[in-house]
Amino acid sequence: FISYAKIVFAQNKVWSNVSAGIESWSWSSRQLSLQSGGTVTIPCHYNMKYIQHKKYWCYDAKAAFNYCKILAYGNTTKGRVTVTDYPAQSLFTVTMRDLRSGDTGMYWCAVEIEGLWPDVKEDIYITVKSVPDMSVEESSVSGQEGGSVSVQCLYSAGHQNELKQWCRSKDQRCYTVGRTDTSQNSAVQINDDGRRSFSVEMSGLQKSDAGWYWCKTGDLQVPVHLSVSDAPPGTIANTDI
Ligand SMILES: *[C@@H]1O[C@H](CO)[C@@H](O)[C@H](O)[C@H]1NC(C)=O
Repeated sequence: FISYAKIVFAQNKVWSNVSAGIESWSWSSRQLSLQSGGTVTIPCHYNMKYIQHKKYWCYDAKAAFNYCKILAYGNTTKGRVTVTDYPAQSLFTVTMRDLRSGDTGMYWCAVEIEGLWPDVKEDIYITVKSVPDMSVEESSVSGQEGGSVSVQCLYSAGHQNELKQWCRSKDQRCYTVGRTDTSQNSAVQINDDGRRSFSVEMSGLQKSDAGWYWCKTGDLQVPVHLSVSDAPPGTIANTDI
C-alpha cells in the first residue's frame, strides 16, 4: 500500500546499504568539531548528473538502520538550517546556526533519487562543544586576482602531531606543510607553528582558485570559503602571460 508508506517516510529516509559519499569519494567520513553558539556552512559536492535532483541535509544518521531525519531540502530554511543548491558549481551548502551540543551526531549530505534506488550521500560527523578541537579565524576569505590571502587554522593540543593539510573541496587536492606551486600560477604555503595553529597563504590567486577548502588536522576538518575578485585596474593578471 504505497501511498501509506510514503506518508510514513515523508520526513525520513531509508537506504539500502550501497552508497558511500556523494559519488566516488573513498575517504572516511568528514569530522567537524564546532563551537556551541556558532554557525557553520558546509559544502557538499555532487556529481553533475544529479543537477536536477533534490538535495537535502539529514540528521541522526544511523547507517546500520539506513535511517535519518531530513532537516531541510535544497533552497529552503527550516529552523536553524538552510540548504542552498548551486547547480552551476554542482554543490550545495548547508548552514547550521546557533549550534548546540545536542546537534552532535552523524549527518548526511544527500541527493534524492526517485524510485526504489537508494539516495546518494556523504557522511559528516559533527561534534559541538564550547571549545572545539579545530577552528579557523575566518571561515570566509577574499582576495583579488593575482593577490594573496591567508587563513589561520587553529587546533587543540591533542592534535599537535597530526598531519596538517589545506584541501580544495571540489577535487580533494591537498597541500601539506611547506610550499607547493599549483599547476596554475597560484602558490600555497603552509606553516605550522607546532603548537596551536597553522597558517595557509595562497598567492598569485587565480579566479579558478575560488571555492571551498578545508583546513585539516588528522581526521578533523573545518570548511573555509575563498572568493577571488577581479584584479585591480592597471595590473596584469597571470593568465595574460
Ligand atoms: C537555489 O539558489 C541558488 C542561489 O541563489 C540558485 O542559483 C539556484 O538556482 C537555486 N536552485 C533552485 C533549485 O531553485
